[in-house]
Amino acid sequence: MNLTVLKGIKECLTLSGARANRGVKPTKEDLGIIENAAVVFDEKIRWVGQERELPKEFSNEMQIDLKGAVVLPGLIDCHTHIVFAGDRSHEYAMRAERKSYRDIADAGGGILSTVKATREATFDELFSLSRTRVLESMSRGITTLEIKSGYGLTVDDEIKILKVIKKLKEELPLTIIPTFLGAHAIPPEFKNNREKYIQILCENLIPQVAKEKLATFCDIFIEKNYFTPDEGKQILEIAVRHGLKIKIHAEQLSNFGGASLAAKMGAISADHLEHLSDTDLASLKKSGVIGVLLPGAAFFLGTAYPPARKFIDHGLPIALSTDWNPGTCMTGNLMLISTIACSQMKMTVPEVITAITFNAAQALSLTNHGFLEQGTRADLAIFGSPSYECLPYHFSVNQISSVFIAGKMIRRENTWETS
Ligand code: NIG
Ligand code: FE
Repeated sequence: MNLTVLKGIKECLTLSGARANRGVKPTKEDLGIIENAAVVFDEKIRWVGQERELPKEFSNEMQIDLKGAVVLPGLIDCHTHIVFAGDRSHEYAMRAERKSYRDIADAGGGILSTVKATREATFDELFSLSRTRVLESMSRGITTLEIKSGYGLTVDDEIKILKVIKKLKEELPLTIIPTFLGAHAIPPEFKNNREKYIQILCENLIPQVAKEKLATFCDIFIEKNYFTPDEGKQILEIAVRHGLKIKIHAEQLSNFGGASLAAKMGAISADHLEHLSDTDLASLKKSGVIGVLLPGAAFFLGTAYPPARKFIDHGLPIALSTDWNPGTCMTGNLMLISTIACSQMKMTVPEVITAITFNAAQALSLTNHGFLEQGTRADLAIFGSPSYECLPYHFSVNQISSVFIAGKMIRRENTWETS
């Protein structure tokens, strides 16, 4: 692959300090901002620095003048559930009439209504729906995307979803990290025999998912009426034995023991944490678990936000993600989530930028993503904005002007080239 030289960069955010501090308490200095920068890359970054110091050896390579753009490492959405069919707009309307998420789920809506629609959808239908969602994420500068299963809840349907994710990974250029979330809810047919479903998860699904290498992570929803911490331990131990890494949906609707399980089991991340206790916070920090906050869900449900300030000030590295799913956050707009994080959770701009780049990479165990340095993957999100502080400010506006994935430009004049 030939080298490309990007010049005319007003601000290049390398995140070098965030990397050095492992994403703890990120400050403006940690963003590693280079003003009037140039970047040279093929699949990987070969050089980054001030344009006036650009080595002569690159002067014959292809040059692109960005005319004052802001360059970030490609954004990372580290928690999504985008493989689903069906429509739950009526649930949103019910919530606007003051029905709670739990009331709606108890009345047969919620996750199980999406399970029904997703089971009925063919592989091709699901692929097409999900592909559109992934392209939307890419158009917003997302170059790494985690995607969970969890709306199938039978052996065949969970495998169908994971194979959709596999095909997305094969056909699209971004980094896709698949997560098995078979323990998302007890399926209706096992309502009175939950042990049997757990047995299927442990004896059939996890071994097959691992054998066919369909997932990197195993996730579980630890919550009242979903899975208990004891069941979680049983399921996750099998997952670990099969080589899967762990994530946990923890303390979303109540304090139910998901976070302490995450700490005990060496999970890579604990996600949600709206109801995290101080003891849980200390154990997550001690065990090196990354906290993934999903404020879009609290925004969409009209419930309380996780206390991000407290987590960050205690030294817990925080990632932010959309949680894109039909029930609790029907958007893939990660920059809008960043604005919500600033205004509702009082996170600073350097904290949110770190949370959607370097810390999101940590939440996916990726060591070569989320920062820009010689040798890292050339994933670049280029914003036509005068300063990085504009990113959460112009809220919900897509300020991306182009995107490079592994060195290849995939957006040019509003047309997407993915092959
Ligand atoms: O992360 N909490 C569990 N899972 C999703 C919601 C799923 C749904 O309502 O369909 C979440 O918020
Ligand atoms: Fe989720």
